[in-house]
Amino acid sequence: MKDLVKQLDKSQVKRIPGIRNLYRDIQKDLDAVEEELKEYIKSPNKIIAEISSYLFKNAGKRIRPALLILCSKLYGYTGDEHIILSSLVETIHTASLLHDDIIDNSQTRRGRESVHTKWGPNITVLLGDYLYIKTIGYSLQSRHKQIVQILTDVSSKMIEGELNEYYVSWNLDIDEHNYLDIINKKTASLFSASCQLGGILGNAKNKEEKILTDFGTNLGMTFQIIDDLLDYTGDENTMGKPILSDLREGRITLPLIYTLQNDGRENRNRILDLLKKKKLDKSSLDEILYTVKSNGALDYTFRKAEEFSVHSKELLQHLGPSVHRDALSLFPDYILHRNK
Ligand code: FPP
Ligand code: MG
Repeated sequence: MKDLVKQLDKSQVKRIPGIRNLYRDIQKDLDAVEEELKEYIKSPNKIIAEISSYLFKNAGKRIRPALLILCSKLYGYTGDEHIILSSLVETIHTASLLHDDIIDNSQTRRGRESVHTKWGPNITVLLGDYLYIKTIGYSLQSRHKQIVQILTDVSSKMIEGELNEYYVSWNLDIDEHNYLDIINKKTASLFSASCQLGGILGNAKNKEEKILTDFGTNLGMTFQIIDDLLDYTGDENTMGKPILSDLREGRITLPLIYTLQNDGRENRNRILDLLKKKKLDKSSLDEILYTVKSNGALDYTFRKAEEFSVHSKELLQHLGPSVHRDALSLFPDYILHRNK
């Protein structure tokens, strides 16, 4: 197969920003977020303290806090509430992954055993609930009254997206429209809320807040489409989680949706037959992977992610120039070309 995704990666590699460039001007704030997160997880309860420290020690990319911080600084915000709100969005994200790994039956996360693999699903569900409700409690202290509403709205959207995704598992009638709606809710909504919260702290005008919200949505859509692409193309060691796990669990993401709608009838029927079993052995997985790699589905998926990333960059052009806007403008390409 002409592996366009790989060709693209090679030709564009020079202009892809590293995460350090993105975070250069806000490293101090991000360090403060790490300190704040440590405070949250201090607990006299031994189980909570132990698992939370396991969770937060293996830091993720902290993309949502970085977006919130940069969006607040766009408008010259100089207070310290951005550190608190960034910690809250990161904690909501962490709580959602605890639950998601149970639902997705994922044994590893960030290269280590997932929490439910180590402590079992019951404790993990409760810890997710605990972290989540703590964030809502902390948010009540904010001077900005709409913040609690934004955090609860985004949480219900995420739950709805995850619920819908699970509900349509193994359902081969899912189309691109259903898929985009699911990922908008489960993933893009928190990116969007992070940018919006930053704008609110900086007293952005309504129009500017809307641009930031849309910027976050488009970035989040890029992020999740690439996440789903990496499930077919990624390197397990780099990503810290196995590939083809969506397929194994019957999650029909864009590469497969494209395949089912655009490949020939023979391949489509063959995939329908394999997926009917709902338990895919190695040779079935390899066969589906081969088909998806051979029919342009991966290139199509990358192009779809690229559309969202391009749109997110265009949105930023409607905001006044600043070093923080320049930093934000590096995110779309970073997210589009990431390999983990
Ligand atoms: C990861 O997707 C999961 C999400 C982005 C959202 C999960 C949301 C919930 C479980 C709802 C509960 C929410 C709260 C606020 C407690 P993925 O499985 O595609 O990504 P992965 O490959 O990293 O697992
Ligand atoms: Mg998952």
